[in-house]
Amino acid sequence: MEVKTSLLDNMIGVGDMVLLEPLSEDSFLENLKKRFDHNEIYTYIGSVVISLNPYRSLPIYTPDKVEEYRNRNFYELSPHIYALADEAYRSLRDQDKDQCILITGESGAGKTEASKLVMSYVAAVCGKGQEVNKVKEQLLQSNPVLEAFGNAKTVRNDNSSRFGKYMDIEFDFKGDPLGGVISNYLLEKSRVVKQPRGERNFHIFYQLLSGASDDMLKKLKLERDFSKYNYLSLDSATVSGLDDAANFRTVRNAMQIVGFMEDEMQSVLELVAAVLKLGNLDFKPESRCNGMDESRVKDKNDLKEMCELLGIEQSVLERAFSYRTVEAKMEKVSTTLNVAQAYYARDALAKNLYSRLFSWLVTRINESIRAQAKTRHKVMGVLDIYGFEIFEDNSFEQFIINYCNEKLQQIFIELTLREEQEEYVREGIEWTNIEYFNNAVICDLIENNQNGILAMLDEECLRPGTVTDETFLDKLNTICAEHQHFESRLNKNSKFLNDHSLPHNCFRIQHYAGKVLYRVEGFVDKNNDLLYRDLSQAMYKANHSLIKQLFPEGNPAKVNLKRPPTAGFQFRASVGTLMGNLQTKNPNYIRCIKPNDKKAAHIFTDSLVRHQVRYLGLMENVRVRRAGYAFRQAYEPCLERYKMLCKNTWPHWKGPARQGVEVLMTDLQVPAEEFAYGRSKIFIRNPRTLFFLEEKRKQCLEDLATLIQKIYRGWKCRSHFLLLKKSEIVVAAWYRRYAQQKKYQKIKHSTTVVQSYTRGWQARKLLRELKYQKKCEEAVTTIAAFWHGTQARRELRRLKEEARRKHAVAVIWAYWQGLKVRREYRKFFRANAGRKIYNFTIQRIMQKYFLGLKSNLPSMSPIDKSWPARPYSFLEGVHAELRRIFHLWRCKKYRSQFTEEKKAVYEEKLEASELFKDKKALYPSSVSQTFKGDYLEMVKNPKYQKLSSAVDEKILLADVVNKINRANGKSSPRLFLLTKKSVILADQKTGQVKTSLPLPDLSSVSTSTQSDGFFALKLKEGSSSAVKGDFLLSSDHLIEIVTKLHRISSLAADREKLNVDISDEFLVQFKQDKVCVKFIQGSPKNGNGVSCKRKNNRLLEVSVPTSP
Ligand SMILES: Nc1ncnc2c1ncn2[C@@H]1O[C@H](COP(=O)(O)OP(=O)(O)O)[C@@H](O)[C@H]1O
Ligand SMILES: [Mg+2]
Repeated sequence: MEVKTSLLDNMIGVGDMVLLEPLSEDSFLENLKKRFDHNEIYTYIGSVVISLNPYRSLPIYTPDKVEEYRNRNFYELSPHIYALADEAYRSLRDQDKDQCILITGESGAGKTEASKLVMSYVAAVCGKGQEVNKVKEQLLQSNPVLEAFGNAKTVRNDNSSRFGKYMDIEFDFKGDPLGGVISNYLLEKSRVVKQPRGERNFHIFYQLLSGASDDMLKKLKLERDFSKYNYLSLDSATVSGLDDAANFRTVRNAMQIVGFMEDEMQSVLELVAAVLKLGNLDFKPESRCNGMDESRVKDKNDLKEMCELLGIEQSVLERAFSYRTVEAKMEKVSTTLNVAQAYYARDALAKNLYSRLFSWLVTRINESIRAQAKTRHKVMGVLDIYGFEIFEDNSFEQFIINYCNEKLQQIFIELTLREEQEEYVREGIEWTNIEYFNNAVICDLIENNQNGILAMLDEECLRPGTVTDETFLDKLNTICAEHQHFESRLNKNSKFLNDHSLPHNCFRIQHYAGKVLYRVEGFVDKNNDLLYRDLSQAMYKANHSLIKQLFPEGNPAKVNLKRPPTAGFQFRASVGTLMGNLQTKNPNYIRCIKPNDKKAAHIFTDSLVRHQVRYLGLMENVRVRRAGYAFRQAYEPCLERYKMLCKNTWPHWKGPARQGVEVLMTDLQVPAEEFAYGRSKIFIRNPRTLFFLEEKRKQCLEDLATLIQKIYRGWKCRSHFLLLKKSEIVVAAWYRRYAQQKKYQKIKHSTTVVQSYTRGWQARKLLRELKYQKKCEEAVTTIAAFWHGTQARRELRRLKEEARRKHAVAVIWAYWQGLKVRREYRKFFRANAGRKIYNFTIQRIMQKYFLGLKSNLPSMSPIDKSWPARPYSFLEGVHAELRRIFHLWRCKKYRSQFTEEKKAVYEEKLEASELFKDKKALYPSSVSQTFKGDYLEMVKNPKYQKLSSAVDEKILLADVVNKINRANGKSSPRLFLLTKKSVILADQKTGQVKTSLPLPDLSSVSTSTQSDGFFALKLKEGSSSAVKGDFLLSSDHLIEIVTKLHRISSLAADREKLNVDISDEFLVQFKQDKVCVKFIQGSPKNGNGVSCKRKNNRLLEVSVPTSP
C-alpha cells in the first residue's frame, strides 16, 4: 500500500496520539510537552485537534501555510488547525454535509483565537470575487466589534470573551460564502458594574476614553480620565500589549465595514457613555415622615448630562430612582426606594442597558451579514463559548458558564465516545468496552426539570414570601444532598461538616473539569434579572431612537404583568437549542489546552495540563480511537463512491451492496485487519486505508475524466471536422462557381477583344478598299474635271477670243460707221443738238425731283417743321419756295376748318401776340391758356345772378381781380366785368357794383414788362370817371383782359384805339397826385409772391420775382 507518510516524516514526538506507544497519561503528557517545546502546538487524536496555547505568535499562519494545507488530506501534513478547517470545508463543499467546529477549553486556552484562525482559513480558501470578498470581509470584521463590546481582561486572559458565540457561516453549492448568523449567549453583564480584582470592565469603555477625539468626548460629555468613572476598575485599566486607542479605530472601521451608519455608531457610543455616567450617580437618604428613608440623587450633574445624552426627561429618571410602582391586578402602588435599593436600581439599569445594547449589536450585525439568497445553504457553525472557569469567588455567571461547558463535554462524549462504542455493538463488530466518565449526571444535577439546581433557583425566585440566597441554598441542601457531585457544608451528609474549604454560604459541584465552589450570594437576584418597571418606562420615553428600541417593555401600552423568564431559564433554553443544532451537523473538535496559568510562552506546567487532559477525557478519546475504527460508512454510499476501483463493480453492481463492497475490498487487496464488515456499514480501521481508497478513487476519477475527455474531445473534433468538411464543400462549390464565372468572363472578354480586333481589321481593310475606290473615283472625276475644265477653258478662250474679235469688229465697225455718219452728218448736228440734249436732261431731272417730292411731303400739321432735303443745289431757291408755299397752303387748309368762335379766339390770341409778344415776360405763359372770358360762370352761378341781371350788356369777361389800395399798396379782391361798353368793378362778396367805367373814358392801359399781373386803367382827363383817379389792378388773366379791352376799342368805329403802354415805370393819377409805379426785380428773400409797397407820396414800388 503506497500512502504518503508525511505525517510521520520528520515528526517531533507523535503527531497523532493514536500512534503513541506505549499509551499512558505520562507518555501522553510527555509527547505533548515535547511537541510544545518544539513549537508544535497541534496534535491529533484521530480527527480531533488538540491545541496548546503558545502565548506568542508563531509563524505558522502565513498565506504559504494556507496554500500548503489547501486541498490536502487530513493526515498528509503535520497537524495543524488548518488541516481541520480544510477537512471541514471540503466535506461541506464536496459532500454537502453541514459542519460545526466545536472549540472547547478553559478560559484563556485559545478558543477565540482558534475560531478566528478557522474563519480566516475558510475565507482564504473559498471562492473569490467582489461580492464574495465583501461578505468575507463583513464576516471577519464582525469579530473586532463583538470583541470590543463582549471581551474583557480577566486574570486568566487579557482578551477573555465574556459571552458565548456561535456563528453559522452559510455557503452556496460552490462553497462561496453567502453570509452568516451569529447567536450570542449570556453576556456576563455583572462586569459592567463591578469587576473582580485584577480585571477590567469591557474593552469598549477603555477604548472609547483613550481612542475618541477630544471633540467626540466633548459631544459625549466624557473626560479622558478613567478615574472619573466609578464603573471602571483602576487597578488594571491599561493592559500591556493592548493598545486601546488603536483598537478603538479598528472597531470603528470594522463597524463601518459591517455596515453601521454613522448615526448608529454615534447612538451606540452615546449609550456606552450613558452607562459610564450612570455609574457616577450617588444617592443620599432623605427621611420621610413615616420614618422611612427615601433616596435622592446626590449630585445631579451626571444625571443631567446622562439625560441630555439619551434625551430623557431628568425628572422622570430622578423619580424612578426614588420610587417604585408595583402593579398588581389593576392596582398601582408606589413605594419609596431606600438608598441601597436606588443603587441596586442604578446597577440593574446599567447592566440591562449594556447587555441589551450588546444583543442589539449582534442583531444589527446579523442584519448586515445575513445571506440574501433564499436558496438552500450549506452551513458551517463555529462555536466559541466561554471556557470552563474556576475563580476564587464563583458566582451565578460561572455556574452558568460551567453548565454550558458541561453540556459541550456531554455532546463530545455523546458523539465520540458513547455513540461510537454503541455503534460497534449495534453493528455487531467485535468490541471490548472502554470505560470513560460520562458527565450526564452532572448535567442532570443542574438542568433536571424537577430537582435540578436551575429549576430550584427558578422555583425560589417565583415563590411568594421572603426569598433570599440563603433560602435557595437551604433548598439545594435538602434536595441535592444525596447527589454525588453536589457538596455543601450544611448538607445532611456529615462528610463535609468539617470541611473548612467549604464555607457556609457556598455549595460545590464536582464538574467534569474539577470541583468549583459557588457562593450563593446574588444567585436569586441575578436569576431574577429585575429591572424596575419605572426605569424601563423612563427609558422607553427617551427621545433616542436606540434606547427606545432596547426597552420595548417600557411601552405603557404593552404593560405585561407576567414575570419575564428568568436568566437561568433563558440560558437553559438557548443551550438546549444550541445542542440540538450542533447534533444535526458533522462535528469537528478543537480541544484547547492552556499550558500555564501565567499567560507566558515556553512554560509547560505539567500538573495543569495533566488536569485538563484528564477532564477533557483525552486519554479515553485515544483509547476508543485506537480500539475502534477511524471511518465508517453505509455499504450503499461506500459502493457508490468506490465502485470504479474494481472491474466487477464498475459501472454497475447488480447484487446487494455489502457483497459489492466485499468484492471491491478483495479486489483491492486491502489487508483484512484494516477493516471490518458491520451489519449496515463497513468500518475502516486506519485513516490510511481510507486515504488509499480515496487516492485510488482520485486516480481512477482522473482516468475516467481523461476517458470522458477523450471521448468528448473525439466527438468534438469529429463534429468539428464534419462541420469543416461540410463547410469546405460549400466553400469549394461557391469558389468553383466563382472561378468558372471568372474564367468565362475572361474568355468572353478575350473573345470580344479578338472579335473586335478582327472586325476592326476587316473594317479597316474594307475602309482602305473603299477609300482607294473613292480616291480612284475622285481621281477620275478630278481628271475628268480637269479635262473638262481644260476643254471648257479652251472653248471659253476660243469664245472670248471670238467675242473680242466680234466686239472689236463691231467697235471698229461702229467707229467706222460713226466716223462715216459723223462725216456725213457733222454739218447738221453741230447747230441744234447741244441745246436740245440740255433741255431734255433738265426736264428729266425736274420731273424726277417733283415726283420724289410728292412722295416725300411732310404731314399737314402747320407746326411740322420737317422738309425733304434738296437733291441738287441749283434747285435751292425752288425748294425753299416750294416749302413756303406748302406751309401757307396747309395753314390755309388748317384755318378753313375753323368755326366762327374758334376764329374769334384765334383772332384774340393773335391780337394778344401783337400786343405783348417780346414785350412782356408774362406773355409766353398765356399762349397755351384759352381765353375763357367768363371765369365766374356768371349766368350759371346763382351767387352772381343779381349782378348779371344788373348789367344789361353781354358780359365779355368776368373775373376776380385785385384792386391795389393806392394809399398803402395792399390789395383787395373785386369782381371785374367787361362788356362792350364798360368796365364794372363789383364787391366780391355781395356782388354790388362799386364802379362802372364807360370804355370811352379809358385813355390807356399800362403794364410792366415783367411777369406780374399788374395793370393800370388810366382815365381820360376831364371825363366823368376821372374824378376818382386811375385804377391799379392785378389779375392772373392780365393778357386776356388787356387784349379784350384793346380789341373792343379797336372794333368800335366811333372810338379811338386804346393805348397799351408797356414799361416798368408809369404814372398813375391818384385823385390829385400823380404816383409813379415802379417795377423792380424782387430779391428771392421776398418770396415768390409779387409785393407792392407805397414808398413815399410819389412812389409805389412793385417787386416782381425773377421769372424762372
Ligand atoms: N494560536 C495562538 N497563537 C498565539 N497566541 C495565542 C494562540 N491562541 C491563543 N493565544 C493567546 O492566548 C490568548 C487567549 O486566547 P483566547 O483565544 O482569547 O482564549 P479563550 O477564548 O479560550 O479564552 C490570546 O489573547 C493570545 O494572546
Ligand atoms: Mg474567548
